[in-house]
Amino acid sequence: MSKTIAPAYRILLAFFGIAIGLYPVAYLTVPAAIPFWSSKGGLTSETWWLTAFYAHILGGGVALLVGWTQFLPRLRAHRIALHRLLGKIYVAAILLFGATGGFAAALVANGGFPSALGFGSLAVLWFFCTLQAYRSILKKDIEQHKAWMIRSYALTFAAVTLRLWLPLFTAGFRLPFEQAYVAVAWFCWVPNLIVGEYLVWRERS
Ligand code: HEM
Repeated sequence: MSKTIAPAYRILLAFFGIAIGLYPVAYLTVPAAIPFWSSKGGLTSETWWLTAFYAHILGGGVALLVGWTQFLPRLRAHRIALHRLLGKIYVAAILLFGATGGFAAALVANGGFPSALGFGSLAVLWFFCTLQAYRSILKKDIEQHKAWMIRSYALTFAAVTLRLWLPLFTAGFRLPFEQAYVAVAWFCWVPNLIVGEYLVWRERS
């Protein structure tokens, strides 16, 4: 898959994968200092939401931290056992924690129904693409495995693109925060999936 992602882009993937992948640590130390936390009001004392939210951000954080390494051609060529181990950690982090917790958190997302639908669809697709990636490698179908993993990580990267789009919509396009949030609930993943699909197409052609 070396031609899938050029070296310069791999550096960007690594940089954002690590930077945003570590961001959930802030919620383990100083949640009350983060504006998003206070925006959730009474939910922050409800067990179901706390369970879903922490499962989501920790699973998502692990997926972001681990995922970019899997696109390094050298890792796959020379350290296949490590690729398999990290791959299993990535899949478990998403299926058991990131996507399931994200789906539950999406039900009460800020911005109401349109934002819940955006994040909820993302959670379902994230789960599905990752599951397909795992099922295809169990069947030893490497082409399909690559394709579904590209789609899966493109969706994992929604956590990064969300944090790039949000300031653009609020400070750049001067949208009120609530409207900007609804927009990024969709913008954070639809373009990623299109780019992922382009990479899959380029890989095949
Ligand atoms: C790709 C699928 C993802 C979905 C469906 C998703 C869904 C959500 C939802 C619904 C919320 C709550 C929004 C609200 O209540 O208004 C949220 C918040 C959050 N998510 Fe995700 N998310 C995804 C990926 C990730 C990843 C990979 C990370 C890893 C860092 C992550 C970390 C967070 C954090 C830290 C928050 C709290 C909001 C903030 O601090 O900005 N998410 N996510």
